[in-house]
Amino acid sequence: MEQILSAEAPIGVFDSGVGGLTVAREIMRQIPNEKIVYFGDTARVPYGSKSKETVTRFSRQIVRFLQTHHVKTIVVACNTASAYALEDLEKEIDVPIIGVVKPGAKAASAATRNGRIGVIATEATIGSRIYSQYIKKINPNVAIYGKACPLFVPLVEEGLWEDPVTDEIAKRYLNELIDINIDTLILGCTHYPLIRSTVARVMGEDVTLVNPAYETARELKEMLERKGLLKETPVALGENKYQFYVSDGAEKFKTFANSIIKYGILSAKTINIEEY
Ligand code: DGL
Repeated sequence: MEQILSAEAPIGVFDSGVGGLTVAREIMRQIPNEKIVYFGDTARVPYGSKSKETVTRFSRQIVRFLQTHHVKTIVVACNTASAYALEDLEKEIDVPIIGVVKPGAKAASAATRNGRIGVIATEATIGSRIYSQYIKKINPNVAIYGKACPLFVPLVEEGLWEDPVTDEIAKRYLNELIDINIDTLILGCTHYPLIRSTVARVMGEDVTLVNPAYETARELKEMLERKGLLKETPVALGENKYQFYVSDGAEKFKTFANSIIKYGILSAKTINIEEY
Protein backbone atom coordinates (compact mmCIF):
# COMPACT_ATOMS: atom_id res chain seq x y z
CA MET A 1 0.00 0.00 0.00
CA GLU A 2 1.28 3.50 -0.91
CA GLN A 3 2.10 5.64 2.08
CA ILE A 4 0.44 9.09 2.15
CA LEU A 5 3.26 11.60 1.99
CA SER A 6 3.25 15.27 2.87
CA ALA A 7 5.02 18.02 0.91
CA GLU A 8 5.97 19.49 4.28
CA ALA A 9 8.02 16.43 5.25
CA PRO A 10 11.82 16.57 4.92
CA ILE A 11 13.95 14.96 2.21
CA GLY A 12 16.33 12.27 3.50
CA VAL A 13 19.81 12.35 1.99
CA PHE A 14 22.56 9.88 2.80
CA ASP A 15 26.16 9.16 1.95
CA SER A 16 29.10 7.18 3.27
CA GLY A 17 30.38 10.40 4.86
CA VAL A 18 30.94 14.04 3.99
CA GLY A 19 31.01 13.76 0.18
CA GLY A 20 27.24 13.63 -0.16
CA LEU A 21 27.15 17.23 1.00
CA THR A 22 27.90 18.13 -2.64
CA VAL A 23 24.48 16.64 -3.41
CA ALA A 24 22.79 18.25 -0.39
CA ARG A 25 24.25 21.59 -1.50
CA GLU A 26 22.69 21.26 -4.95
CA ILE A 27 19.32 20.40 -3.40
CA MET A 28 19.58 23.48 -1.16
CA ARG A 29 20.33 25.64 -4.20
CA GLN A 30 17.74 24.25 -6.56
CA ILE A 31 14.83 23.67 -4.16
CA PRO A 32 15.50 26.09 -1.30
CA ASN A 33 12.17 25.62 0.50
CA GLU A 34 12.89 21.99 1.29
CA LYS A 35 13.88 20.59 4.67
CA ILE A 36 16.71 18.05 4.65
CA VAL A 37 17.75 15.31 7.05
CA TYR A 38 21.30 14.27 6.10
CA PHE A 39 23.10 11.19 7.33
CA GLY A 40 26.83 10.63 6.75
CA ASP A 41 28.20 7.22 7.69
CA THR A 42 31.50 8.64 8.93
CA ALA A 43 32.20 5.62 11.15
CA ARG A 44 32.14 3.17 8.24
CA VAL A 45 33.45 5.27 5.33
CA PRO A 46 34.78 4.45 2.71
CA TYR A 47 32.14 2.44 0.88
CA GLY A 48 34.11 2.54 -2.37
CA SER A 49 36.37 -0.37 -1.43
CA LYS A 50 33.66 -2.53 0.22
CA SER A 51 31.50 -5.35 -1.13
CA LYS A 52 27.97 -5.06 -2.48
CA GLU A 53 26.60 -7.03 0.49
CA THR A 54 28.22 -4.74 3.05
CA VAL A 55 27.21 -1.51 1.30
CA THR A 56 23.64 -2.79 0.92
CA ARG A 57 23.43 -3.73 4.61
CA PHE A 58 24.74 -0.30 5.66
CA SER A 59 22.36 1.46 3.27
CA ARG A 60 19.36 -0.48 4.65
CA GLN A 61 20.18 0.62 8.18
CA ILE A 62 20.47 4.24 7.07
CA VAL A 63 17.15 4.10 5.22
CA ARG A 64 15.51 2.75 8.39
CA PHE A 65 17.05 5.63 10.37
CA LEU A 66 15.84 8.23 7.84
CA GLN A 67 12.36 6.75 7.91
CA THR A 68 12.16 7.49 11.63
CA HIS A 69 12.22 11.15 10.49
CA HIS A 70 9.19 10.51 8.25
CA VAL A 71 10.99 11.68 5.13
CA LYS A 72 8.92 12.10 1.96
CA THR A 73 11.71 10.85 -0.29
CA ILE A 74 15.25 9.51 -0.01
CA VAL A 75 18.24 10.57 -2.08
CA VAL A 76 21.13 8.13 -2.19
CA ALA A 77 23.86 10.74 -2.59
CA CYS A 78 26.66 8.16 -2.61
CA ASN A 79 27.58 6.82 -6.06
CA THR A 80 28.81 3.54 -4.57
CA ALA A 81 25.57 2.98 -2.62
CA SER A 82 23.56 3.97 -5.71
CA ALA A 83 25.52 1.41 -7.73
CA TYR A 84 25.25 -1.41 -5.20
CA ALA A 85 22.13 -0.94 -3.10
CA LEU A 86 19.56 1.21 -4.89
CA GLU A 87 17.90 -1.58 -6.83
CA ASP A 88 17.22 -3.57 -3.64
CA LEU A 89 16.12 -0.53 -1.66
CA GLU A 90 13.63 0.51 -4.34
CA LYS A 91 11.82 -2.80 -3.88
CA GLU A 92 11.83 -2.61 -0.09
CA ILE A 93 10.48 0.82 0.79
CA ASP A 94 7.31 2.72 0.03
CA VAL A 95 8.73 6.25 -0.29
CA PRO A 96 10.28 7.34 -3.58
CA ILE A 97 14.05 6.85 -3.61
CA ILE A 98 16.53 8.17 -6.17
CA GLY A 99 20.23 7.69 -6.65
CA VAL A 100 22.88 9.80 -8.37
CA VAL A 101 23.92 7.37 -11.10
CA LYS A 102 20.88 7.44 -13.37
CA PRO A 103 20.65 11.26 -13.57
CA GLY A 104 24.40 11.44 -14.27
CA ALA A 105 24.19 8.77 -16.97
CA LYS A 106 21.26 10.53 -18.63
CA ALA A 107 23.04 13.89 -18.73
CA ALA A 108 26.21 12.34 -20.15
CA SER A 109 24.27 10.54 -22.90
CA ALA A 110 22.72 13.86 -23.87
CA ALA A 111 26.04 15.70 -23.78
CA THR A 112 28.29 13.45 -25.86
CA ARG A 113 28.84 14.34 -29.51
CA ASN A 114 31.43 11.73 -30.47
CA GLY A 115 29.85 8.85 -28.49
CA ARG A 116 32.85 8.39 -26.17
CA ILE A 117 32.15 8.93 -22.47
CA GLY A 118 34.54 8.58 -19.55
CA VAL A 119 33.52 7.80 -15.98
CA ILE A 120 35.72 8.41 -12.96
CA ALA A 121 34.59 6.96 -9.63
CA THR A 122 35.50 4.62 -6.76
CA GLU A 123 36.71 1.10 -7.46
CA ALA A 124 33.29 -0.27 -6.49
CA THR A 125 31.32 2.01 -8.81
CA ILE A 126 33.65 1.33 -11.73
CA GLY A 127 33.64 -2.43 -11.01
CA SER A 128 29.83 -2.49 -10.96
CA ARG A 129 29.73 -1.05 -14.51
CA ILE A 130 26.51 0.66 -13.50
CA TYR A 131 27.07 3.90 -15.44
CA SER A 132 27.81 1.86 -18.51
CA GLN A 133 24.61 -0.17 -18.11
CA TYR A 134 22.41 2.91 -17.80
CA ILE A 135 24.08 4.74 -20.69
CA LYS A 136 23.85 1.68 -22.95
CA LYS A 137 20.13 1.46 -22.21
CA ILE A 138 19.73 5.02 -23.49
CA ASN A 139 22.12 4.64 -26.42
CA PRO A 140 23.76 1.27 -27.14
CA ASN A 141 26.20 2.85 -29.58
CA VAL A 142 28.07 4.87 -26.99
CA ALA A 143 31.47 3.64 -25.78
CA ILE A 144 32.12 4.06 -22.03
CA TYR A 145 35.52 4.07 -20.40
CA GLY A 146 35.71 3.72 -16.62
CA LYS A 147 38.65 4.72 -14.46
CA ALA A 148 38.83 4.24 -10.69
CA CYS A 149 40.53 7.18 -8.96
CA PRO A 150 40.76 6.05 -5.32
CA LEU A 151 43.24 8.73 -4.22
CA PHE A 152 40.88 11.58 -5.03
CA VAL A 153 38.69 10.94 -1.96
CA PRO A 154 41.49 11.28 0.64
CA LEU A 155 42.96 14.25 -1.26
CA VAL A 156 39.63 16.06 -1.09
CA GLU A 157 39.15 15.18 2.57
CA GLU A 158 42.65 16.53 3.31
CA GLY A 159 41.50 19.82 1.81
CA LEU A 160 43.94 19.62 -1.15
CA TRP A 161 41.33 20.87 -3.64
CA GLU A 162 43.80 23.15 -5.41
CA ASP A 163 47.23 21.67 -4.94
CA PRO A 164 50.17 20.50 -7.09
CA VAL A 165 49.87 17.01 -5.56
CA THR A 166 46.26 16.74 -6.71
CA ASP A 167 47.25 18.07 -10.16
CA GLU A 168 49.94 15.42 -10.49
CA ILE A 169 47.67 12.55 -9.43
CA ALA A 170 44.87 13.82 -11.69
CA LYS A 171 47.28 13.76 -14.65
CA ARG A 172 48.28 10.17 -13.91
CA TYR A 173 44.67 9.01 -13.62
CA LEU A 174 43.24 11.01 -16.49
CA ASN A 175 45.93 10.75 -19.19
CA GLU A 176 44.56 7.49 -20.51
CA LEU A 177 41.09 9.04 -20.87
CA ILE A 178 42.61 11.91 -22.84
CA ASP A 179 44.42 9.41 -25.08
CA ILE A 180 41.18 7.65 -26.02
CA ASN A 181 39.55 10.91 -27.02
CA ILE A 182 36.46 11.04 -24.78
CA ASP A 183 34.41 14.22 -25.13
CA THR A 184 32.35 13.82 -21.92
CA LEU A 185 33.47 12.87 -18.42
CA ILE A 186 31.18 11.91 -15.52
CA LEU A 187 32.37 12.96 -12.05
CA GLY A 188 31.01 9.69 -10.65
CA CYS A 189 31.91 10.14 -6.99
CA THR A 190 30.52 12.54 -4.41
CA HIS A 191 33.89 14.18 -3.77
CA TYR A 192 34.90 14.95 -7.34
CA PRO A 193 32.84 18.12 -7.89
CA LEU A 194 35.12 19.68 -5.26
CA ILE A 195 38.14 19.18 -7.55
CA ARG A 196 36.22 19.99 -10.69
CA SER A 197 38.58 22.78 -11.72
CA THR A 198 41.62 20.49 -11.46
CA VAL A 199 39.89 17.82 -13.55
CA ALA A 200 38.77 20.45 -16.08
CA ARG A 201 42.31 21.82 -16.39
CA VAL A 202 43.76 18.36 -17.00
CA MET A 203 41.05 17.24 -19.43
CA GLY A 204 41.04 20.47 -21.44
CA GLU A 205 38.14 22.63 -22.52
CA ASP A 206 36.84 20.29 -25.22
CA VAL A 207 35.67 17.76 -22.63
CA THR A 208 32.27 18.34 -20.99
CA LEU A 209 32.20 17.49 -17.29
CA VAL A 210 28.96 16.03 -15.96
CA ASN A 211 28.18 16.52 -12.28
CA PRO A 212 25.66 13.88 -11.10
CA ALA A 213 25.00 15.93 -7.93
CA TYR A 214 23.58 18.77 -10.00
CA GLU A 215 21.61 16.42 -12.27
CA THR A 216 20.18 14.55 -9.28
CA ALA A 217 18.85 17.72 -7.64
CA ARG A 218 17.23 18.64 -10.95
CA GLU A 219 15.56 15.22 -11.26
CA LEU A 220 14.54 15.32 -7.62
CA LYS A 221 12.77 18.63 -8.18
CA GLU A 222 10.95 17.25 -11.23
CA MET A 223 9.92 14.12 -9.36
CA LEU A 224 8.58 16.08 -6.36
CA GLU A 225 6.64 18.37 -8.70
CA ARG A 226 5.19 15.41 -10.55
CA LYS A 227 4.05 13.78 -7.31
CA GLY A 228 2.70 17.02 -5.81
CA LEU A 229 5.35 16.82 -3.09
CA LEU A 230 7.34 19.99 -3.74
CA LYS A 231 7.31 22.26 -0.70
CA GLU A 232 5.87 25.57 -1.88
CA THR A 233 6.50 27.79 1.14
CA PRO A 234 9.71 28.63 3.01
CA VAL A 235 10.46 26.89 6.28
CA ALA A 236 8.96 28.81 9.21
CA LEU A 237 11.31 30.96 11.26
CA GLY A 238 12.82 28.99 14.12
CA GLU A 239 12.08 25.63 12.50
CA ASN A 240 15.04 23.29 12.03
CA LYS A 241 15.54 23.34 8.26
CA TYR A 242 18.67 21.24 7.84
CA GLN A 243 19.55 18.42 10.23
CA PHE A 244 22.83 16.54 10.06
CA TYR A 245 23.56 13.17 11.59
CA VAL A 246 26.73 11.09 11.45
CA SER A 247 27.87 7.76 12.85
CA ASP A 248 31.11 9.22 14.26
CA GLY A 249 33.11 12.43 14.62
CA ALA A 250 30.37 15.05 14.56
CA GLU A 251 32.77 17.96 15.19
CA LYS A 252 35.12 17.01 12.34
CA PHE A 253 32.11 16.55 10.06
CA LYS A 254 30.84 20.00 11.00
CA THR A 255 34.15 21.66 10.11
CA PHE A 256 34.31 19.98 6.71
CA ALA A 257 30.62 20.56 6.05
CA ASN A 258 30.94 24.27 6.72
CA SER A 259 33.64 24.50 4.07
CA ILE A 260 31.23 23.05 1.48
CA ILE A 261 27.87 24.45 2.51
CA LYS A 262 27.80 28.15 3.15
CA TYR A 263 24.34 28.13 4.68
CA GLY A 264 25.73 27.37 8.12
CA ILE A 265 25.59 23.89 9.59
CA LEU A 266 24.26 24.64 13.02
CA SER A 267 24.92 21.24 14.48
CA ALA A 268 25.66 17.63 13.68
CA LYS A 269 24.66 14.77 15.96
CA THR A 270 26.29 11.39 16.33
CA ILE A 271 23.93 8.42 16.36
CA ASN A 272 24.53 4.67 16.67
CA ILE A 273 23.56 3.45 13.19
CA GLU A 274 24.02 -0.19 14.19
CA GLU A 275 20.80 0.13 16.21
CA TYR A 276 18.74 0.50 13.03
N1 DGL B 1 30.62 8.61 -1.39
C1 DGL B 1 31.44 7.70 -2.14
C2 DGL B 1 30.96 7.66 -3.59
O1 DGL B 1 30.36 8.59 -4.10
C3 DGL B 1 32.91 8.06 -2.06
C4 DGL B 1 33.55 7.82 -0.72
C5 DGL B 1 33.54 6.36 -0.33
O2 DGL B 1 34.28 5.55 -0.90
O3 DGL B 1 32.77 6.02 0.56
O4 DGL B 1 31.16 6.68 -4.25
